[in-house]
Amino acid sequence: MSAITCSNVEKSYGATTVIRDLNLAIEEHEFVVFLGPSGCGKSTLLRMLAGLEDISGGEVSIGGKVVNDLDPGDRGIAMVFQNYALYPHMTIFDNIAFGLKRQKVAKAEIQKRVEAVSKTLGLDPYLGRKPAELSGGQQQRVAIARAMIKTPKVFLFDEPLSNLDAKLRNHMRIEIARLHQSLKTTTVYVTHDQLEAMTLADRIVLLRDGRIEQIGSPAEIYERPGNLFVAGFIGTPNMNFIDVAVGRKESRWTLTSAGAVFSIDGSRFNLQHVDRAVLGIRPPDLKTAGTDAGQSVLEGTADLIEFHGNDALVIFGSGGKEISALVPTRECPAVNTHVRYAVDEQSLHLFDAKSGVSLLRQ
Ligand SMILES: Nc1ncnc2c1ncn2[C@@H]1O[C@H](COP(=O)(O)OP(=O)(O)O)[C@@H](O)[C@H]1O
Ligand SMILES: [Mg+2]
Repeated sequence: MSAITCSNVEKSYGATTVIRDLNLAIEEHEFVVFLGPSGCGKSTLLRMLAGLEDISGGEVSIGGKVVNDLDPGDRGIAMVFQNYALYPHMTIFDNIAFGLKRQKVAKAEIQKRVEAVSKTLGLDPYLGRKPAELSGGQQQRVAIARAMIKTPKVFLFDEPLSNLDAKLRNHMRIEIARLHQSLKTTTVYVTHDQLEAMTLADRIVLLRDGRIEQIGSPAEIYERPGNLFVAGFIGTPNMNFIDVAVGRKESRWTLTSAGAVFSIDGSRFNLQHVDRAVLGIRPPDLKTAGTDAGQSVLEGTADLIEFHGNDALVIFGSGGKEISALVPTRECPAVNTHVRYAVDEQSLHLFDAKSGVSLLRQ
């Protein structure tokens, strides 16, 4: 039995449809991330799971039970928001215990449970303090503790780290991953940050404009993006896209762009009946080329170098297009010199020029 199921779920505000015919099954213990650009409907969908938004059509089930008409408090979920507003005049203990006190849980039981979650989250030294006496990361942990203490069946997180600075965000990301490793509570986590999604998710649900573009493990989505949108959204630096004409030459296929001709074996792709395609190459898949002929090579003049530390991003023009290659810094060329980068056929991506759908074979 799935922990959460969405069947033909729809959400409209008046005439505006925000979620369209969405189907999704989340397994028990899974960590699922809703990822997508701002405004694509991530929060709306999460709030529908939580019961904070009405469902305009379709069904949401949690633990096998349809919850469309169930109050948030009866769904067995706990939610952590980006703005986690703690009660400033209450101690950390009272902030964590608040929900239980409201449910009239016995004092001794509250004491026991606050101690247990505080220990898990490393908050035990701070229970007597007020929120203002804690750092941003500690406050965020209090918000998580407040959700955890309800021992929910499902955790929902809506961009919980976006108010923290970069260093703290990395730290808290690891803490959330550890927490899930030890508690194994089914989790749905919303973010627009692909690094957060890639590092936390068992599966990513990539959304655009209220629709699911692709569902898969981070590796699947990175290695086999199903269309141009997914390919362009996942991976930093972004994938290079080059328009090519597809042709046949003897037993091989040719991909001809304004700046290069690639000859490929093509067996990974469905190329019959395709004459125009978009070639996708991730910047780290472009490798400094040797002198041997027969390689698929992109070349041009390096016009900008971005130093990243271990690696450098070399930006060069090829056939009127700006191409990026991510190379080890020791191979970094000087600006305004000629560069040549080879790409292995195994790392090429190809998309249908009209539909944008990947041409990779299943
Ligand atoms: N109460 C509302 N009334 C009308 N439109 C809304 C309302 N809430 C959200 N929207 C719209 O729904 C879309 C999805 O919003 P949201 O789920 O917040 O996106 P995300 O969390 O992915 O950034 C946006 O276009 C937003 O303007
Ligand atoms: Mg949002």
